[in-house]
Amino acid sequence: MKILVVGSGGREHALVWKLGLSDRVREIYCSPGNAGIAAAAKTRLLPQLSLRQLLDFAVDQGVDLTVVGPEASLVDGVGDLFRQAGVPLVGPSAEAARLEGSKAFAKDFMARHQIPTAAYRIFDEPAAAERALRSGRFDFPVVLKADGLAAGKGVLICADLQEAVAALDRIMIARRFGTAGDRLVIEEFLQGEEASFMVLADGAGNVVPMVPSQDHKQIFEGDRGPNTGGMGAYSMDGLLSPDLRQRILDEIILPTVDGMNREGRPFAGILYAGLMLTADGPQVLEYNVRFGDPEAQVILPRLRSDLATLLLQAARGDLASTQAEWTPEAAVCVVAAAEGYPGSYPKGQDISGLANAARMENLVVFHAGTSQAGGRFVTSGGRVLGVTALAPSLDDAVRRAYSGLREIHFDGIYYRRDIAYRRLAQ
Ligand code: AMP
Ligand code: GLY
Repeated sequence: MKILVVGSGGREHALVWKLGLSDRVREIYCSPGNAGIAAAAKTRLLPQLSLRQLLDFAVDQGVDLTVVGPEASLVDGVGDLFRQAGVPLVGPSAEAARLEGSKAFAKDFMARHQIPTAAYRIFDEPAAAERALRSGRFDFPVVLKADGLAAGKGVLICADLQEAVAALDRIMIARRFGTAGDRLVIEEFLQGEEASFMVLADGAGNVVPMVPSQDHKQIFEGDRGPNTGGMGAYSMDGLLSPDLRQRILDEIILPTVDGMNREGRPFAGILYAGLMLTADGPQVLEYNVRFGDPEAQVILPRLRSDLATLLLQAARGDLASTQAEWTPEAAVCVVAAAEGYPGSYPKGQDISGLANAARMENLVVFHAGTSQAGGRFVTSGGRVLGVTALAPSLDDAVRRAYSGLREIHFDGIYYRRDIAYRRLAQ
Protein backbone atom coordinates (compact mmCIF):
# COMPACT_ATOMS: atom_id res chain seq x y z
CA MET A 1 0.00 0.00 0.00
CA LYS A 2 0.92 3.61 -0.52
CA ILE A 3 -0.28 5.84 2.27
CA LEU A 4 -0.56 9.61 2.54
CA VAL A 5 -0.48 11.11 6.03
CA VAL A 6 -1.55 14.74 6.46
CA GLY A 7 -0.09 16.79 9.32
CA SER A 8 3.19 17.69 10.98
CA GLY A 9 3.13 16.85 14.67
CA GLY A 10 4.01 14.07 17.08
CA ARG A 11 0.71 12.36 16.30
CA GLU A 12 1.60 12.18 12.62
CA HIS A 13 5.10 10.90 13.44
CA ALA A 14 3.50 8.13 15.52
CA LEU A 15 1.18 7.27 12.60
CA VAL A 16 4.03 7.21 10.09
CA TRP A 17 6.19 5.13 12.46
CA LYS A 18 3.46 2.56 13.07
CA LEU A 19 2.46 2.37 9.41
CA GLY A 20 6.11 1.93 8.46
CA LEU A 21 6.22 -1.27 10.57
CA SER A 22 3.46 -2.85 8.46
CA ASP A 23 4.44 -5.42 5.83
CA ARG A 24 1.51 -4.21 3.79
CA VAL A 25 2.86 -0.66 3.55
CA ARG A 26 5.38 0.02 0.81
CA GLU A 27 5.55 3.80 0.74
CA ILE A 28 4.40 6.65 2.98
CA TYR A 29 4.07 10.29 1.99
CA CYS A 30 3.57 12.98 4.59
CA SER A 31 2.49 16.58 4.00
CA PRO A 32 4.10 18.66 5.42
CA GLY A 33 5.67 16.44 8.14
CA ASN A 34 8.71 17.37 10.22
CA ALA A 35 12.38 16.39 10.42
CA GLY A 36 11.69 13.19 12.36
CA ILE A 37 9.04 12.10 9.88
CA ALA A 38 11.46 12.81 7.02
CA ALA A 39 13.86 10.31 8.59
CA ALA A 40 11.20 7.63 9.22
CA ALA A 41 11.24 4.31 7.35
CA LYS A 42 9.63 4.24 3.89
CA THR A 43 8.65 7.90 4.20
CA ARG A 44 8.97 10.92 1.92
CA LEU A 45 7.94 14.46 2.78
CA LEU A 46 5.70 16.58 0.59
CA PRO A 47 5.31 20.33 0.98
CA GLN A 48 2.22 21.84 2.60
CA LEU A 49 -0.59 21.23 0.08
CA SER A 50 -4.12 22.55 -0.30
CA LEU A 51 -6.97 20.04 0.06
CA ARG A 52 -7.35 19.96 -3.71
CA GLN A 53 -3.60 19.38 -4.18
CA LEU A 54 -3.71 16.53 -1.67
CA LEU A 55 -6.46 14.87 -3.70
CA ASP A 56 -4.59 15.42 -6.98
CA PHE A 57 -1.46 13.90 -5.46
CA ALA A 58 -3.36 10.88 -4.11
CA VAL A 59 -4.97 10.27 -7.51
CA ASP A 60 -1.75 10.81 -9.54
CA GLN A 61 0.36 8.56 -7.31
CA GLY A 62 -2.26 5.87 -6.81
CA VAL A 63 -2.32 6.37 -3.03
CA ASP A 64 -4.33 3.56 -1.42
CA LEU A 65 -5.26 5.39 1.76
CA THR A 66 -5.06 8.91 3.16
CA VAL A 67 -4.98 9.54 6.92
CA VAL A 68 -5.65 13.05 8.21
CA GLY A 69 -4.18 14.14 11.55
CA PRO A 70 -5.40 17.71 12.13
CA GLU A 71 -9.04 18.62 12.62
CA ALA A 72 -9.02 21.81 10.53
CA SER A 73 -8.73 19.97 7.20
CA LEU A 74 -11.59 17.67 8.19
CA VAL A 75 -13.80 20.57 9.24
CA ASP A 76 -12.91 22.21 5.91
CA GLY A 77 -14.17 19.18 3.98
CA VAL A 78 -11.17 17.10 2.93
CA GLY A 79 -13.26 13.99 3.67
CA ASP A 80 -16.01 15.07 1.28
CA LEU A 81 -13.53 15.99 -1.45
CA PHE A 82 -11.89 12.55 -1.34
CA ARG A 83 -15.16 10.64 -1.00
CA GLN A 84 -16.72 12.42 -3.98
CA ALA A 85 -13.67 11.40 -6.02
CA GLY A 86 -13.85 7.80 -4.72
CA VAL A 87 -10.41 8.03 -3.10
CA PRO A 88 -10.10 6.23 0.28
CA LEU A 89 -9.55 8.51 3.28
CA VAL A 90 -9.93 7.90 7.02
CA GLY A 91 -11.85 10.82 8.46
CA PRO A 92 -15.35 12.24 8.67
CA SER A 93 -17.25 14.51 6.27
CA ALA A 94 -17.45 18.22 7.11
CA GLU A 95 -20.99 17.68 8.42
CA ALA A 96 -19.80 14.93 10.78
CA ALA A 97 -16.67 16.91 11.73
CA ARG A 98 -18.98 19.53 13.28
CA LEU A 99 -18.84 17.38 16.42
CA GLU A 100 -15.43 19.01 16.92
CA GLY A 101 -15.80 22.12 14.75
CA SER A 102 -18.68 23.57 16.76
CA LYS A 103 -19.04 23.04 20.50
CA ALA A 104 -22.59 24.43 20.29
CA PHE A 105 -23.45 21.82 17.64
CA ALA A 106 -21.91 19.07 19.78
CA LYS A 107 -23.83 20.14 22.91
CA ASP A 108 -27.17 20.34 21.08
CA PHE A 109 -26.45 16.99 19.43
CA MET A 110 -25.79 15.38 22.83
CA ALA A 111 -28.99 16.92 24.21
CA ARG A 112 -30.99 15.53 21.25
CA HIS A 113 -29.63 12.03 21.88
CA GLN A 114 -29.51 12.00 25.69
CA ILE A 115 -25.73 11.61 25.75
CA PRO A 116 -24.41 12.58 29.21
CA THR A 117 -22.67 15.96 29.26
CA ALA A 118 -22.54 19.08 31.43
CA ALA A 119 -25.61 21.34 31.53
CA TYR A 120 -25.09 24.31 29.18
CA ARG A 121 -26.45 27.35 27.40
CA ILE A 122 -25.45 28.86 24.07
CA PHE A 123 -25.14 32.62 23.40
CA ASP A 124 -24.72 34.62 20.20
CA GLU A 125 -24.69 38.01 21.93
CA PRO A 126 -22.15 39.06 24.57
CA ALA A 127 -24.74 41.23 26.37
CA ALA A 128 -27.12 38.29 26.78
CA ALA A 129 -24.27 36.07 28.00
CA GLU A 130 -23.21 38.68 30.55
CA ARG A 131 -26.78 39.11 31.80
CA ALA A 132 -27.04 35.33 32.23
CA LEU A 133 -23.75 35.20 34.13
CA ARG A 134 -24.84 38.02 36.42
CA SER A 135 -28.31 36.54 36.98
CA GLY A 136 -27.01 33.98 39.48
CA ARG A 137 -28.23 31.08 37.32
CA PHE A 138 -24.73 29.56 37.07
CA ASP A 139 -22.71 28.11 39.92
CA PHE A 140 -18.98 28.82 40.11
CA PRO A 141 -16.56 27.70 38.91
CA VAL A 142 -18.18 27.91 35.48
CA VAL A 143 -16.77 26.93 32.08
CA LEU A 144 -16.79 29.25 29.05
CA LYS A 145 -16.04 27.82 25.63
CA ALA A 146 -15.53 29.50 22.28
CA ASP A 147 -17.77 27.64 19.83
CA GLY A 148 -15.27 27.11 17.01
CA LEU A 149 -11.80 25.60 16.63
CA ALA A 150 -9.24 27.26 18.89
CA ALA A 151 -6.37 24.75 18.98
CA GLY A 152 -7.54 23.45 22.36
CA LYS A 153 -7.17 26.90 23.95
CA GLY A 154 -10.74 28.21 23.70
CA VAL A 155 -11.92 26.74 27.01
CA LEU A 156 -11.72 28.98 30.07
CA ILE A 157 -12.52 27.80 33.58
CA CYS A 158 -13.64 30.73 35.70
CA ALA A 159 -13.59 30.71 39.50
CA ASP A 160 -15.99 33.63 39.99
CA LEU A 161 -18.19 36.17 38.24
CA GLN A 162 -15.33 38.58 37.65
CA GLU A 163 -13.24 35.94 35.87
CA ALA A 164 -16.24 34.81 33.86
CA VAL A 165 -16.96 38.33 32.62
CA ALA A 166 -13.28 38.74 31.70
CA ALA A 167 -13.36 35.41 29.83
CA LEU A 168 -16.53 36.44 28.02
CA ASP A 169 -14.77 39.63 26.98
CA ARG A 170 -11.73 37.72 25.68
CA ILE A 171 -13.82 35.32 23.65
CA MET A 172 -16.64 37.50 22.28
CA ILE A 173 -15.38 41.09 22.38
CA ALA A 174 -11.57 41.04 22.18
CA ARG A 175 -12.08 37.99 19.93
CA ARG A 176 -8.88 36.29 20.99
CA PHE A 177 -9.95 33.15 19.15
CA GLY A 178 -11.21 35.00 16.06
CA THR A 179 -14.50 33.84 14.56
CA ALA A 180 -14.41 30.79 16.87
CA GLY A 181 -15.80 33.28 19.42
CA ASP A 182 -18.89 34.25 17.40
CA ARG A 183 -20.84 31.98 19.69
CA LEU A 184 -20.24 31.04 23.28
CA VAL A 185 -21.09 27.94 25.29
CA ILE A 186 -21.40 28.41 29.04
CA GLU A 187 -21.46 25.15 30.91
CA GLU A 188 -21.50 23.55 34.30
CA PHE A 189 -18.11 22.67 35.80
CA LEU A 190 -17.78 18.89 36.18
CA GLN A 191 -15.61 17.22 38.76
CA GLY A 192 -13.68 14.00 38.41
CA GLU A 193 -10.78 12.45 36.60
CA GLU A 194 -10.47 12.85 32.83
CA ALA A 195 -9.95 10.08 30.30
CA SER A 196 -9.69 9.97 26.53
CA PHE A 197 -11.55 7.22 24.71
CA MET A 198 -11.15 6.75 20.97
CA VAL A 199 -12.77 4.39 18.53
CA LEU A 200 -12.42 3.73 14.84
CA ALA A 201 -15.81 4.17 13.19
CA ASP A 202 -16.72 3.05 9.68
CA GLY A 203 -19.77 5.20 8.97
CA ALA A 204 -21.98 2.09 8.87
CA GLY A 205 -22.52 1.90 12.63
CA ASN A 206 -19.53 -0.33 13.48
CA VAL A 207 -16.84 0.75 15.89
CA VAL A 208 -13.51 -0.69 17.05
CA PRO A 209 -12.56 0.66 20.48
CA MET A 210 -8.99 1.63 21.25
CA VAL A 211 -7.31 1.37 24.65
CA PRO A 212 -7.96 4.28 27.04
CA SER A 213 -5.51 7.08 27.72
CA GLN A 214 -5.14 10.24 29.73
CA ASP A 215 -3.34 13.38 28.65
CA HIS A 216 -1.85 16.25 30.63
CA LYS A 217 -2.96 19.53 29.12
CA GLN A 218 -1.42 21.98 31.55
CA ILE A 219 2.13 23.27 31.32
CA PHE A 220 3.20 22.82 34.95
CA GLU A 221 3.47 19.85 37.29
CA GLY A 222 0.39 19.08 39.34
CA ASP A 223 -1.79 20.26 36.40
CA ARG A 224 -1.21 23.94 37.02
CA GLY A 225 -0.75 26.83 34.64
CA PRO A 226 -2.17 27.50 31.18
CA ASN A 227 -3.40 24.77 28.86
CA THR A 228 -1.09 23.58 26.10
CA GLY A 229 -1.50 21.25 23.15
CA GLY A 230 -0.61 18.44 25.60
CA MET A 231 2.53 17.90 27.73
CA GLY A 232 2.33 14.13 27.93
CA ALA A 233 0.01 11.16 28.06
CA TYR A 234 -0.16 7.58 29.20
CA SER A 235 -2.19 4.55 28.33
CA MET A 236 -2.80 1.48 30.46
CA ASP A 237 -5.67 -0.94 30.72
CA GLY A 238 -6.30 -0.15 34.39
CA LEU A 239 -7.29 3.41 33.51
CA LEU A 240 -10.86 2.24 32.83
CA SER A 241 -12.35 -0.99 34.19
CA PRO A 242 -14.01 -3.32 31.65
CA ASP A 243 -17.40 -2.31 33.09
CA LEU A 244 -16.70 1.37 32.68
CA ARG A 245 -15.49 0.84 29.11
CA GLN A 246 -18.69 -0.98 28.29
CA ARG A 247 -20.70 1.82 29.86
CA ILE A 248 -18.83 4.41 27.77
CA LEU A 249 -19.57 2.39 24.65
CA ASP A 250 -23.25 1.92 25.51
CA GLU A 251 -24.01 5.39 26.88
CA ILE A 252 -21.73 7.57 24.78
CA ILE A 253 -19.98 6.07 21.76
CA LEU A 254 -22.79 3.99 20.24
CA PRO A 255 -25.48 6.64 20.83
CA THR A 256 -23.15 9.15 19.14
CA VAL A 257 -22.61 6.98 16.09
CA ASP A 258 -26.30 6.03 15.89
CA GLY A 259 -27.39 9.63 16.38
CA MET A 260 -25.10 10.86 13.63
CA ASN A 261 -26.45 8.14 11.33
CA ARG A 262 -30.05 9.03 12.10
CA GLU A 263 -29.33 12.69 11.42
CA GLY A 264 -27.95 11.83 8.00
CA ARG A 265 -24.33 12.69 8.86
CA PRO A 266 -22.72 9.27 9.33
CA PHE A 267 -19.44 9.41 11.19
CA ALA A 268 -16.49 7.59 9.63
CA GLY A 269 -12.99 8.01 10.99
CA ILE A 270 -11.54 8.35 14.45
CA LEU A 271 -14.08 9.43 17.05
CA TYR A 272 -12.50 10.75 20.23
CA ALA A 273 -14.55 11.33 23.36
CA GLY A 274 -12.89 13.49 26.00
CA LEU A 275 -14.56 12.31 29.20
CA MET A 276 -14.97 13.38 32.78
CA LEU A 277 -15.48 10.38 35.05
CA THR A 278 -17.91 11.97 37.48
CA ALA A 279 -19.62 10.47 40.52
CA ASP A 280 -22.70 10.14 38.29
CA GLY A 281 -20.81 8.28 35.56
CA PRO A 282 -18.85 9.27 32.47
CA GLN A 283 -19.80 12.56 30.79
CA VAL A 284 -18.55 14.07 27.55
CA LEU A 285 -16.35 17.17 27.83
CA GLU A 286 -15.64 17.32 24.12
CA TYR A 287 -15.57 15.35 20.92
CA ASN A 288 -12.61 15.29 18.58
CA VAL A 289 -12.85 13.84 15.10
CA ARG A 290 -9.27 12.59 14.77
CA PHE A 291 -6.53 10.96 16.84
CA GLY A 292 -5.60 12.88 19.97
CA ASP A 293 -2.14 14.36 20.26
CA PRO A 294 -0.28 13.16 22.40
CA GLU A 295 -2.75 10.27 22.91
CA ALA A 296 -1.83 8.71 19.55
CA GLN A 297 1.79 8.54 20.73
CA VAL A 298 0.82 6.17 23.59
CA ILE A 299 -1.98 4.26 21.91
CA LEU A 300 -0.38 3.31 18.60
CA PRO A 301 2.68 1.69 20.25
CA ARG A 302 0.27 -0.62 22.12
CA LEU A 303 -1.47 -1.78 18.93
CA ARG A 304 -0.62 -5.32 17.87
CA SER A 305 -2.95 -5.46 14.87
CA ASP A 306 -1.93 -4.03 11.53
CA LEU A 307 -2.75 -0.32 11.55
CA ALA A 308 -2.92 0.03 7.77
CA THR A 309 -5.50 -2.77 7.56
CA LEU A 310 -7.64 -1.29 10.34
CA LEU A 311 -7.61 2.19 8.83
CA LEU A 312 -8.40 0.88 5.36
CA GLN A 313 -11.34 -1.10 6.75
CA ALA A 314 -12.62 2.04 8.50
CA ALA A 315 -12.33 4.00 5.26
CA ARG A 316 -14.22 1.28 3.37
CA GLY A 317 -17.11 1.01 5.85
CA ASP A 318 -15.94 -2.49 6.66
CA LEU A 319 -15.34 -2.84 10.42
CA ALA A 320 -18.30 -5.18 11.12
CA SER A 321 -16.18 -8.20 12.01
CA THR A 322 -12.97 -6.44 13.01
CA GLN A 323 -11.34 -6.32 16.42
CA ALA A 324 -8.04 -4.75 17.33
CA GLU A 325 -5.45 -6.47 19.50
CA TRP A 326 -3.40 -4.54 22.04
CA THR A 327 -0.44 -5.31 24.22
CA PRO A 328 -1.32 -5.18 27.94
CA GLU A 329 1.85 -3.14 28.53
CA ALA A 330 1.65 0.49 29.64
CA ALA A 331 2.85 3.35 27.44
CA VAL A 332 3.97 6.81 28.53
CA CYS A 333 4.81 9.83 26.39
CA VAL A 334 6.58 12.85 27.86
CA VAL A 335 6.65 15.98 25.71
CA ALA A 336 9.78 18.13 25.62
CA ALA A 337 8.87 21.75 24.91
CA ALA A 338 10.80 24.90 24.08
CA GLU A 339 11.42 27.43 26.86
CA GLY A 340 8.47 29.83 27.12
CA TYR A 341 5.86 27.55 25.54
CA PRO A 342 2.82 27.94 25.43
CA GLY A 343 3.83 31.63 25.23
CA SER A 344 6.52 32.78 22.82
CA TYR A 345 9.63 30.64 22.49
CA PRO A 346 12.88 30.56 20.54
CA LYS A 347 13.38 28.39 17.47
CA GLY A 348 16.43 26.95 15.78
CA GLN A 349 18.07 25.43 18.89
CA ASP A 350 20.35 22.48 18.16
CA ILE A 351 18.99 19.16 19.45
CA SER A 352 21.54 16.58 20.62
CA GLY A 353 21.34 13.05 21.99
CA LEU A 354 18.70 11.72 19.60
CA ALA A 355 20.95 8.91 18.40
CA ASN A 356 21.61 7.76 21.98
CA ALA A 357 17.90 7.75 22.80
CA ALA A 358 17.18 5.85 19.57
CA ARG A 359 19.40 3.00 20.79
CA MET A 360 17.28 2.45 23.91
CA GLU A 361 14.91 -0.49 23.87
CA ASN A 362 11.13 -0.01 23.87
CA LEU A 363 11.55 3.72 23.50
CA VAL A 364 10.66 5.92 20.53
CA VAL A 365 11.24 9.62 20.11
CA PHE A 366 8.43 11.20 18.14
CA HIS A 367 9.24 14.57 16.62
CA ALA A 368 6.73 17.43 16.70
CA GLY A 369 8.38 20.84 16.18
CA THR A 370 11.69 19.93 14.56
CA SER A 371 13.42 20.74 11.30
CA GLN A 372 16.79 20.04 9.69
CA ALA A 373 19.48 22.70 9.39
CA GLY A 374 22.88 21.85 7.97
CA GLY A 375 22.44 18.16 8.65
CA ARG A 376 21.39 18.71 12.27
CA PHE A 377 18.04 18.52 13.99
CA VAL A 378 16.89 21.88 15.34
CA THR A 379 13.78 23.04 17.20
CA SER A 380 11.05 24.72 15.13
CA GLY A 381 7.96 24.61 17.35
CA GLY A 382 6.73 24.89 20.93
CA ARG A 383 6.26 21.19 21.49
CA VAL A 384 9.51 19.80 20.12
CA LEU A 385 9.61 16.06 20.87
CA GLY A 386 7.56 13.37 22.59
CA VAL A 387 9.49 10.51 24.15
CA THR A 388 7.35 7.37 24.37
CA ALA A 389 8.26 4.26 26.36
CA LEU A 390 6.52 0.93 26.65
CA ALA A 391 6.94 -1.42 29.66
CA PRO A 392 5.05 -4.12 31.59
CA SER A 393 4.23 -1.65 34.36
CA LEU A 394 3.38 2.02 34.27
CA ASP A 395 6.16 2.79 36.76
CA ASP A 396 8.73 1.15 34.50
CA ALA A 397 7.39 2.91 31.44
CA VAL A 398 7.67 6.26 33.24
CA ARG A 399 11.24 5.53 34.35
CA ARG A 400 12.21 4.49 30.85
CA ALA A 401 10.66 7.57 29.21
CA TYR A 402 12.54 9.88 31.59
CA SER A 403 15.82 8.05 31.11
CA GLY A 404 15.34 8.56 27.36
CA LEU A 405 14.71 12.25 27.94
CA ARG A 406 17.90 12.62 29.96
CA GLU A 407 19.85 11.73 26.81
CA ILE A 408 18.32 14.62 24.88
CA HIS A 409 19.37 18.25 25.08
CA PHE A 410 18.51 21.59 23.59
CA ASP A 411 18.78 25.06 25.12
CA GLY A 412 15.82 25.74 27.40
CA ILE A 413 14.35 22.21 27.17
CA TYR A 414 11.33 21.93 29.46
CA TYR A 415 9.25 18.90 30.35
CA ARG A 416 6.92 17.95 33.15
CA ARG A 417 8.49 15.58 35.68
CA ASP A 418 5.15 14.13 36.78
CA ILE A 419 3.53 12.54 33.73
CA ALA A 420 1.15 9.74 34.84
CA TYR A 421 1.47 10.83 38.50
CA ARG A 422 -2.13 9.94 39.29
CA ARG A 423 -1.48 6.25 38.74
CA LEU A 424 2.06 5.71 39.95
CA ALA A 425 2.75 3.30 42.77
CA GLN A 426 4.80 5.63 44.99
P1 AMP B 1 -12.22 20.72 25.92
O1 AMP B 1 -11.33 21.31 24.85
O2 AMP B 1 -13.66 21.02 25.76
O3 AMP B 1 -11.92 19.28 26.23
O4 AMP B 1 -11.74 21.44 27.25
C1 AMP B 1 -10.40 21.49 27.62
C2 AMP B 1 -10.24 21.12 29.05
O5 AMP B 1 -11.04 21.97 29.86
C3 AMP B 1 -10.74 19.71 29.37
O6 AMP B 1 -9.77 18.74 29.12
C4 AMP B 1 -11.06 19.84 30.84
O7 AMP B 1 -9.86 19.77 31.61
C5 AMP B 1 -11.58 21.24 30.94
N1 AMP B 1 -13.06 21.24 30.85
C6 AMP B 1 -13.81 21.39 29.74
N2 AMP B 1 -15.11 21.36 30.03
C7 AMP B 1 -15.21 21.20 31.37
C8 AMP B 1 -16.29 21.07 32.27
N3 AMP B 1 -17.56 21.16 31.89
N4 AMP B 1 -16.00 20.89 33.58
C9 AMP B 1 -14.72 20.83 34.01
N5 AMP B 1 -13.66 20.95 33.21
C10 AMP B 1 -13.88 21.13 31.89
N1 GLY C 1 -5.00 15.73 23.53
C1 GLY C 1 -6.22 16.33 23.18
C2 GLY C 1 -6.38 16.63 21.76
O1 GLY C 1 -5.72 16.06 20.91
O2 GLY C 1 -7.20 17.48 21.44
